Amino acid sequence: MSQLDLLVKGIGRLVTPIGQQARRGRDMSEVCEITNAAIAVHEGYIVAIGKEAELQQELEGRSIHRTLDAAGNMVTPGLIDPHTHLVHGGSREHELALKRSGVPYLDILAQGGGILSTVRSTREASEEQLYHQAKRSLDEMLLQGLTTIEAKSGYGLELEAELKQLRVVQRLQESHPIDLVSTFMGAHAVPIEYAGRTDEFVNHIIEKMLPVIAAERLAEFCDVFCEHGVFSVEQSRRILEAGKRYGLKPKIHADEIVALGGAELAGEIHAISAEHLLAATDQGLSAMSASGVVPVVLPGTSFNLGLTKHARARDMIDKFALPVALSTDYNPGSCPTESIQLIMMLASLNLKMSPEEILTACTLNAAAAIGRESSIGSIEIGKQADLTVWNATNLSYLPYHFGINHTFGVVKRGQTVVWNRQRVSREGDVE
Ligand code: NIG
Ligand code: FE
Repeated sequence: MSQLDLLVKGIGRLVTPIGQQARRGRDMSEVCEITNAAIAVHEGYIVAIGKEAELQQELEGRSIHRTLDAAGNMVTPGLIDPHTHLVHGGSREHELALKRSGVPYLDILAQGGGILSTVRSTREASEEQLYHQAKRSLDEMLLQGLTTIEAKSGYGLELEAELKQLRVVQRLQESHPIDLVSTFMGAHAVPIEYAGRTDEFVNHIIEKMLPVIAAERLAEFCDVFCEHGVFSVEQSRRILEAGKRYGLKPKIHADEIVALGGAELAGEIHAISAEHLLAATDQGLSAMSASGVVPVVLPGTSFNLGLTKHARARDMIDKFALPVALSTDYNPGSCPTESIQLIMMLASLNLKMSPEEILTACTLNAAAAIGRESSIGSIEIGKQADLTVWNATNLSYLPYHFGINHTFGVVKRGQTVVWNRQRVSREGDVE
């Protein structure tokens, strides 16, 4: 190969976790740092990495199609968000006063609000409206430095409306620079028409929804809100086992508010990830550790719900050697933010994670939570060239200087998609 597509040079500090597997426990803080670095990219993949001076020598005689200069700034792997409720209709600012007056999240849901209010707006919205609303959020995420995200259904709760959400995810995957992975979450709440008949709704999901979703190849994962008053452990087990039979890998919203045993179930059924986990017990966390489940912690959600309790990330890392991942949980209710950088700050403040642990949790471990750890999540030869260029020179600066966007540029599969904080449509053109 004599030609190279891209050389990213002028990297003051390249920081990345290393490996093709999630990093567990204390290994989360081991990141590789190279100062004065450069990265060579060809056909969307990383082909060489090293000190810039050495790499320039190594590449002498090769023609380089394009060069990007990071101007002494830090470069990390493109960030990954493994848990979002991206596609939904409407918003829920009308519930703000209720929330602030102290009405609990599950009470708002039990009164037909919360998730059920978004179900009404999502059912009413056209596919086109959902597409444009989700695209706006995705554009924000890209400007934040995210290059891959997971997106769940779960605001349709009837076949057609669930399919509508999942088709939007598929269309965005085809048209947007961010890569999306899709999760079917028909078991996000019990719809009004099944009120008091949760078991029948579970049967409906298993018999009528899952076969169609699987046949249309619209999802890779299946998720359930396993929570007091929503889906029990037994109901969640039935849905996730059925999903597995259709080839959908299990994920689970577990032990968010009440310690129901969702973490134990995640371990038992070998879920790829378990999310929230504020109330997870030691037994639950150790069951997850034994079967390699990735805990996805969502500090924006506990923050926005005004809770004083947070996920026990330190215990997960120090006591249970778990590979913690972080996510926005972007949704219109419990966490209406696309800002992964706010989440990084909250992980530092409330979960006491170090800047290195936070980077691993937002890159390689987040990739593992969506089964992509062999192709993305680190800057290594052979991985996809997904990079975030920061307007900062070191990792600690990110959670330290909070409330603003530190992303300077984003490279996705070797293409510059954000530069100088703005979208780039074709090479060199600012959108
Ligand atoms: O992960 N907990 C359940 N589902 C979402 C919230 C969805 C909503 O409130 O609309 C979550 O927090
Ligand atoms: Fe969620």
